[in-house]
Amino acid sequence: MIWNTRINQMTKTKYPIIMGAFAGLGKAKFAAAFSNGGGLGIITALNYKVDGFKKVLQGMESMTDKPFGINISVRPPGVKTPYGQLTEDDYLKYVEIGLNEGLNIFTTSAYQATFIGKRVHEAGCYWYHKCALPKHALSAEKAGADAITLVGLEGAGAKHPFQNTTLVNLTITKKLLKVPIIAAGGIGDARGFLGALAMGAEAVCFGTAIMLTKECPASTELKEKWLNTNIFDEHFHKKIYDFEARDIKTPSTAVAHRKNIIPIKDFIEEIMNNAELILKSWGFTSNELNIIS
Ligand SMILES: Cc1cc2nc3c(=O)[nH]c(=O)nc-3n(C[C@H](O)[C@H](O)[C@H](O)COP(=O)(O)O)c2cc1C
Repeated sequence: MIWNTRINQMTKTKYPIIMGAFAGLGKAKFAAAFSNGGGLGIITALNYKVDGFKKVLQGMESMTDKPFGINISVRPPGVKTPYGQLTEDDYLKYVEIGLNEGLNIFTTSAYQATFIGKRVHEAGCYWYHKCALPKHALSAEKAGADAITLVGLEGAGAKHPFQNTTLVNLTITKKLLKVPIIAAGGIGDARGFLGALAMGAEAVCFGTAIMLTKECPASTELKEKWLNTNIFDEHFHKKIYDFEARDIKTPSTAVAHRKNIIPIKDFIEEIMNNAELILKSWGFTSNELNIIS
């Protein structure tokens, strides 16, 4: 089945799916496996020192001939990266390396990143920014972002005290934005994937769900622990939904959809094949899903 959205037109991937950014885990081999599966693999730039970053991107050539991008998580003022406090020029060094290596998609998150978007646009490439609130999505669109990744409260990673659920975020923001939305937060199976498209997204970003794959560089012990998460447990619930008790290292509710640790290629095939079966069961007969709106 052909999946056609504004996002996979920009990313030139087979499927409208994008890998999340992962501090510590978003390494090249993991990203290459996601790209080989038909999505857009993302290398989390700050997992590497800038000095060795060019070599990392060049090493991707031996692992995939498919498109991939990078993420730069810009820290708010006063918040350090693993390499201390970075200036705008420091972050831009990663961007320059990516541009020199011919990348086309640059994703940013965590704080304002217009300075990155400007440089990416000067080079004729695409800038995607991740937000948690509709009002931040609107600001990022105004600042020129070509797509917005919108993370709902169900998602893992950084939280905002006034964050809404993925459903509320998507359906409200779809009415406000012109640029395409990439849905994130709690999505771990084909129904979640299709549901996000129906709620206004033109691609899905997978975080937690792909941490339960063979290629994710976390230990097998940790993956087993995540698989056994009881998402209905009160402590788990607090860590995800209660801003004061949050724990950004806790995998999201998407774990509930995963039953074992499988290769990324199988994970992606499962989502896409099941999504197609669901569409057919609803009476959809075309071989192409076109949701360019
Ligand atoms: C271990 C871990 C580390 C993460 N690190 C980052 C990061 O450095 N930058 C970022 O933008 N998002 C980060 N995220 C968030 C993911 O990129 C993604 O937005 C989120 O996981 C989506 O929700 P889901 O886990 O429910 O799929 C991280 C998530 C996890 C689980």
